[in-house]
Amino acid sequence: MNLAAVVLAAGIGKRMKSHVPKVLHPVLGRPMLSYVIDAVRGSSPKKIVVVLGHGRDDVKESIGQAGILFAEQKVQLGTGHAADCARGELAGFKGNILILNGDFPLITSKSLKNLVKKHTEGGADVSFLTADITDPSGYGRVLRNLKGGVEKIIEEKDASPDEKKISEINSGTYCVKSDFLWEVLKGVGSGNRQKEYYLTDIIEIAVKRSRRVLGVKSRDGSEALGVNDRVQLSEVEAILKKRVNDSLMRAGVSMIDPGTTFVSPDARIGADTVIYPGTYIYGKTVIGAGSSLGPGAWIQDSVLGKGVEVRLSSYIANCKIGDNVIVGPFAHLRPGAEIMDGVKIGNFVEIKKSRIGSGSKVPHLSYVGDAVIGKDVNIGAGTITCNYDGFRKHETVIEDGVFIGSDTMLVAPIRVGRGATTGAGSTITKDVPEGALAIGRAKQTVIENWSRKPREGKGKK
Ligand code: UD1
Ligand code: CA
Repeated sequence: MNLAAVVLAAGIGKRMKSHVPKVLHPVLGRPMLSYVIDAVRGSSPKKIVVVLGHGRDDVKESIGQAGILFAEQKVQLGTGHAADCARGELAGFKGNILILNGDFPLITSKSLKNLVKKHTEGGADVSFLTADITDPSGYGRVLRNLKGGVEKIIEEKDASPDEKKISEINSGTYCVKSDFLWEVLKGVGSGNRQKEYYLTDIIEIAVKRSRRVLGVKSRDGSEALGVNDRVQLSEVEAILKKRVNDSLMRAGVSMIDPGTTFVSPDARIGADTVIYPGTYIYGKTVIGAGSSLGPGAWIQDSVLGKGVEVRLSSYIANCKIGDNVIVGPFAHLRPGAEIMDGVKIGNFVEIKKSRIGSGSKVPHLSYVGDAVIGKDVNIGAGTITCNYDGFRKHETVIEDGVFIGSDTMLVAPIRVGRGATTGAGSTITKDVPEGALAIGRAKQTVIENWSRKPREGKGKK
């Protein structure tokens, strides 16, 4: 069966009151449009056309995946006009065309496939997904005749008080025979309250032309929820969050408070991992089994091994972490941190673009940037790799078994050889050979019998 899909994503989304195009607003850390495109891909169309307008370049960049065609709607004259903008990209395509709004991330490929199935089996010219919802305000309502056949869709703004009471809404998802679509769109006018070309008008026109129209009611009403404002955005996110969290919990992940646990649908988490409240796991993160995360952890686009403990209020982005590692509380692992097995990263430690060898410890109050640290190294409290000279970043190399004394400044580029030691409070500016002790601090001076004298003007009221 020949199927193509058109996703409408050109609108500004006035009701979002935002500079960001509506379809780019994130849901669980991903633009809402990407969910729609995933669902579309799952229905295996031959072609996908995304209609762009507002924030065209940003939208293109954020979803710039292969296999997507783009059409442009220069002026936003309504959904009917937007769909028509895909005409050029689909010229020569014969079959059925799915049309979807870019602002309803809860749609699933299962529902799309079901719509296409009902459409083909029913020999329909146009079919669309509907849903009964408790608060239909804002949506187009589905008008049916006494026999239950669809008559038309009426937009909220054009609806009479009685029509507004109808709870069956148009989800904005259609499946239309290609020939019929391009023909019927020519008949859509803009004689309505919003002076827009409504895609919804194709239903009434089809009925009038005695074409076969099917309104397919979705079993899960929540799937039809669109996002027009930020209240709906939060509602949709809550539903999606529950979907993701429920399936993780069923697969063996514990969540102390799923209501405050946010996991991207792209994340993978091993069984017996426990997630504490207020934790965010975004992007293509992978977490091994038996780990413990949070409370209040943020983990993004990172790969964590088994038995990892990410403690209270730690932030991890674009990092690789081995097995049995401890991170935090209050640790900041920045892009390019590679933490090997059994490492301990303690409180108030920041690590950037550095490899920390297995069994090493950075337990307290340190900055490690652009460093390569070997195995079984101990980094004392308050150590800093001084990696930046104001122009360039330089590397610090610390070999296996080194002991860095507390409050050591390692002025890069620098190398501390295997098994070496630095004295507490040292500023190390020259390479330290293997096994050596390096001390770089002023010798202590002691002045005997020194008592502080009150200075003039101080200490008086
Ligand atoms: C639309 C439907 C309504 C349905 C609802 C479901 C119409 C006229 N109404 O209303 O029946 O219940 O969706 O959520 O279709 N867009 C463009 N170009 C435009 C206008 C819109 O690309 O000129 C895109 C938007 O970016 C958005 C989608 O089309 O992704 C829907 O537009 P929106 O203005 O949100 O339509 P609704 O008022 O929600
Ligand atoms: Ca909408």
